[in-house]
Amino acid sequence: MKVAVIGTGYVGLVTGACLANVGNDVICADNDAAKVELLNNGGIPIYEPGLDEIVARNLSDGRIHFTTDTAHAVREADVIFIAVGTPPDEDGSADLQHVIAVAKEIGANLNGYKVVVCKSTVPVGTCERVAATIRELSDEDFDVASNPEFLKEGSAIQDFQSPDRVVIGCANREAAEKVGSLYKPFFRRSERIVYMDVRSSEMTKYASNAMLATKISFINEIANICDQVGADIEHVRTGMSLDERIGPHFIYPGVGYGGSCFPKDVRALASLGRDSGAQTLLLDAVRDVNREQKLVLYHAAKAKLGSFEGKKIAVWGLSFKPKTDDVRESAALINIRRFIAEGATVAATDPESIANAKRDLKATDTNMDAIEFFEDDYVALEGADILFIFTEWSQFRSPDFKRMKSLMNAPVIFDGRNLYAPKAMKDAGFEYFSIGRP
Ligand code: UDX
Repeated sequence: MKVAVIGTGYVGLVTGACLANVGNDVICADNDAAKVELLNNGGIPIYEPGLDEIVARNLSDGRIHFTTDTAHAVREADVIFIAVGTPPDEDGSADLQHVIAVAKEIGANLNGYKVVVCKSTVPVGTCERVAATIRELSDEDFDVASNPEFLKEGSAIQDFQSPDRVVIGCANREAAEKVGSLYKPFFRRSERIVYMDVRSSEMTKYASNAMLATKISFINEIANICDQVGADIEHVRTGMSLDERIGPHFIYPGVGYGGSCFPKDVRALASLGRDSGAQTLLLDAVRDVNREQKLVLYHAAKAKLGSFEGKKIAVWGLSFKPKTDDVRESAALINIRRFIAEGATVAATDPESIANAKRDLKATDTNMDAIEFFEDDYVALEGADILFIFTEWSQFRSPDFKRMKSLMNAPVIFDGRNLYAPKAMKDAGFEYFSIGRP
């Protein structure tokens, strides 16, 4: 099939690459000329395991093309995916200007029947706005479908190629099945393509992300209670997870959820609920718990040290989770800004996200003289009064504790990801603090 993907961000690029990889003819359009040039030269603007290989293979086989000419991409395609960003507006609602701009471009260039698919996460009712925008500019026949994306950063290629489910919302079943047929190569055994109406499909994406965010905030609140009452959240979590109704996924306590989706989508759903006159008590609480959870270690360390003034703080992990260079809403950066504002110096390390962290900290007016970045995890520990671990990169899981102790000024670790056994840490001579464990 001839497919156009408008927007070569995270979702667009993965979608385009994986659809090309199963034999479709894919044109990816983006109005960022520098990005398009990078992609045409075999470069990848984001870090995502396996993506570079797939793009390179399909580029050289001629199945994927990158262009700044959206009109051309629209005219060539049978199915057009809209995969541009929907950043939060000031009030938390999704900013749809990019989606609507693409809809206008589609309307202006429609040259025959096409299915337009909204892949971007958009509030309920957006697909109808997209359809109305196209209709104003074109007399051609078309359908609009909602097809939300459930990819996780760091495992996006695998998620795309073996999805739990594909949700397609469209008033016209034939058009929906045309979109569904693009996903058939990825289902080996059972069919898990779920067809529904457009509004339910738009809602499914928000509800899924809000449910997962709720699980995380729930377990974090339980962990904080465990801390107070002397219970161990790891035992509690394991005990809970064997109940199939609860399950083992997304109940790991930590320093709160970050990234580009959960924080933005929970906020956008609450905003959507409020605007439509519904109550959003639970969604608001999920956000409140998460905001506080990002500071749990900060408060505990401050209680121990009295003040951060003049302290040297080592930080392991800057991205919001491992296997990504994404630092959006990452607990590490929120804490680092506080440490520096309160007079500490920071020595930070991360295998992939130092460049993004620097950019983000500069953009938020952090005193960059107070922070140094290191490629080597151990060098970052030299003379440190305390180590904070914010991301569970696998290289942090079994470090050389003896070496760490000999490098640090004081053997104190605040671990936001429960990587080590408290008893072993005590035996190794560390003062060790984690989340919800005695
Ligand atoms: C998420 C959804 O999982 C995905 O389906 C959707 O398409 C986009 O949003 P992503 O943002 O890539 O994906 O990250 P995810 O792996 O879901 O983790 C989100 C955050 O939750 C991370 O900060 C992670 O550390 C945290 N988390 C996750 C926990 O604190 N505990 C858990 O048990 C799981």
